[in-house]
Amino acid sequence: MLSSVELNKFNDEGCVVIENFLSKEQVSELVQEADRLLAQIDIKTHPLTKFSTAEDDDNHVGDKYFLESSDRIHYFFEVEAFDEDGKLTKPVEKAINKIGHGLHFLNEKYSAITINERISSIARQLKFHDPRVLQSMLILKQPEIGGKVPSHQDGEFLFTEPQSCIGFWFALEDCTVDNGCLSFIPGSHKVFPVEKRFVKDLKKGSGTKFVDPKTLEDWSLDTSSESYIQKNDESQFVKVEIPAGSLVLIHNSVVHKSEKNTSGKSRYAYTFHCIEGTAKYDELNWLQIPPNNPSGTSQITKLCT
Ligand code: FE2
Repeated sequence: MLSSVELNKFNDEGCVVIENFLSKEQVSELVQEADRLLAQIDIKTHPLTKFSTAEDDDNHVGDKYFLESSDRIHYFFEVEAFDEDGKLTKPVEKAINKIGHGLHFLNEKYSAITINERISSIARQLKFHDPRVLQSMLILKQPEIGGKVPSHQDGEFLFTEPQSCIGFWFALEDCTVDNGCLSFIPGSHKVFPVEKRFVKDLKKGSGTKFVDPKTLEDWSLDTSSESYIQKNDESQFVKVEIPAGSLVLIHNSVVHKSEKNTSGKSRYAYTFHCIEGTAKYDELNWLQIPPNNPSGTSQITKLCT
């Protein structure tokens, strides 16, 4: 359960940290499990999909391996793990940006920290009626090459009508300015509506792009627009430096980002996103859950059973 102070902070600022949410033992077990998963990559058959979040459509991840990852354990590489000739410059286990997006029901250890009474009661405090876990991932932010994630709102990527997604983000290692901790603009969830959404490019038949949520016309980046300038105003961001074991709750519309990891230490985190089961989740979304998998009738994993 969240305290009233934590709940008010989340409602006021769009982001709150609950320190010591996981015990040291839980954290070390989850880190070990992440390393065990990393050791299982079969590089010979992997399409070498890189994870990149460009602010426009250029170079945004969108291949079949990515689009079909909702009910798989797929590995996405760091862009900077390759040289100009496309050769890996790091050991494979130090070259993975993230693992996703079905850990919450395919992996016993990650399922256990996702689907449980503690999380359900937080979801109820956050006013979910029928919380569904849409996706989950391990974000590894590798030493020296862990890519930056530009300023964004999660509702752009996990779009529902009305907006409903909340991120549950667990620090599995200490997060500092040096290894690319999160930062966010307090209160921005009340100021900035979600003005673009990330969709499958149905016209082209492959890949992904951003569209205007109202018109569904292609959306293009305008770095001179007032909202872009405000969402990238460095002076407004608060850094979230937190110890391993902390849980961070992230509102769908709060503006947040993280910088490149330039340190020699990784920054492992596990995150999953909940959406409201009664909200509309349409076929344009890049992430689609195949029918009857994993949870039968309604497709997206129920948080509260
Ligand atoms: Fe995010």
